[in-house]
Amino acid sequence: RVTLPYPEKPVAVASSMPANEPVEFNYPDDESPCVAIKLGSAVPGGVGPESDIVAFSTQCTHKGCIVHYDAQTRNFKCPCHFSMYDCEKGGQMIIGQSTTDMPSIILSYDASDDSVTAIGVNGLIYGRQANTL
Ligand code: FES
Repeated sequence: RVTLPYPEKPVAVASSMPANEPVEFNYPDDESPCVAIKLGSAVPGGVGPESDIVAFSTQCTHKGCIVHYDAQTRNFKCPCHFSMYDCEKGGQMIIGQSTTDMPSIILSYDASDDSVTAIGVNGLIYGRQANTL
């Protein structure tokens, strides 16, 4: 099967991202809601000057409901059937009806202009047979 290349899409300027608050964007197309979060301390897969910026598809891998970020626990919580995912561990599923981790958005960081760009997806976005339609 031929997989289309992922687009490059600007997400944020790292220094202007609010701490521990989701920044919404869509990727790899307008139908796919995502958030980027600057966690404030380095995490696996994090980019930026502090290696603390991560991003995920916000569609729950169980049935596609939009998950919400809980800044206190740094988890994503699904309002539909209460699945939870760990934002600091690459979107790893913690508990619930879903059986897979959240798809993470692959980010690149350019120090010359402090820009964060989405360049790909790890994992399959809910409801899709391929991430790029
Ligand atoms: Fe999220 Fe069911 S859709 S737990």
